[in-house]
Amino acid sequence: MSGVRMAATAVVFAAMASAIALACVSGCDRLPGAPRDAPAAAAVAVGSDGWVRMTFDSQCCGCHAGGVDGASFPLMEVEYWRIASDEQAIAATAHGQGVMMPSFLDTNGGSLTEEEIVALVTGMRRVYGQGALPSGGLSGTVVPGDAARGEAVFAQACATCHGAQVPKGVLTDPDYLRLVSDQALWTHIAVGRKAVGMPAWNEAMPGRPTGLSAGEVADVVAWLSSQRPLARGGTK
Ligand code: HEC
Ligand code: HEC
Repeated sequence: MSGVRMAATAVVFAAMASAIALACVSGCDRLPGAPRDAPAAAAVAVGSDGWVRMTFDSQCCGCHAGGVDGASFPLMEVEYWRIASDEQAIAATAHGQGVMMPSFLDTNGGSLTEEEIVALVTGMRRVYGQGALPSGGLSGTVVPGDAARGEAVFAQACATCHGAQVPKGVLTDPDYLRLVSDQALWTHIAVGRKAVGMPAWNEAMPGRPTGLSAGEVADVVAWLSSQRPLARGGTK
């Protein structure tokens, strides 16, 4: 084998290995933005389980799969679908949220029609949420809370994993808080991150064997929000 061919073979193996590693970790088979197989896409009916998985894998999975490398909260786990309404998930997918979630609506320059977004969200509830509906235990959207009480809850329930002495994930870092919306903090706390050991809001935490109450979720979000530096012009 020539040197050039051996080098090319090594590159192919490396690419395959990383694709397989990614698939194993997250269930995704490609990174966001990578081209998809057009004939295969055309053969799958919009709204079917296969279409939902294919669309999620190609457009959402890199950020929302929830594996160890997931960039944001998991949408492939039932916890999100137990608190979130279709309306909030459709609105976020269509119009984006905060500074990091892009708008997917075609008329905003995105890749999905309104019908496809509705089919994707209702399909994700069926496929990943096992059909779960919001149970009323916790609101899916931010409820105002008490920041002073939230500071005490944070010290007790979260600081073991997120305190200033822990190098990974210092949640009060101003640069972090500027990047995430209160709604994203709410969803992170509500849903947790199983793959990296972060419990959902009502599961056992070190120092909190019974998890948080709904009111305490609101209080912690209010406290984290109060730690966010004011943007220029004085608004949050
Ligand atoms: C580039 C990364 C990225 C991609 C790709 C992405 N998202 Fe998001 N998404 C985010 C982030 C980050 C947030 C939280 C942003 C904030 O509020 O600060 C978010 C928020 C959301 C929310 C709101 C959750 C809630 O109720 O609080 C939904 C729903 C959502 N994304 C669905 C999707 C869907 C469906 C796709 C694929 C069509 C997708 N996202 C693709 C990064 C991404
Ligand atoms: C058992 C450990 C543990 C506990 C308890 C815990 N977390 Fe986490 N949490 C994690 C880990 C690990 C991550 C992922 C960090 C990363 O990817 O860098 C995380 C991620 C987060 C994120 C998302 C950070 C991001 O990437 O945007 C938020 C917000 C968060 N936690 C808030 C909280 C709050 C508030 C509490 C208390 C109610 C809490 N967590 C309790 C371990 C924990």
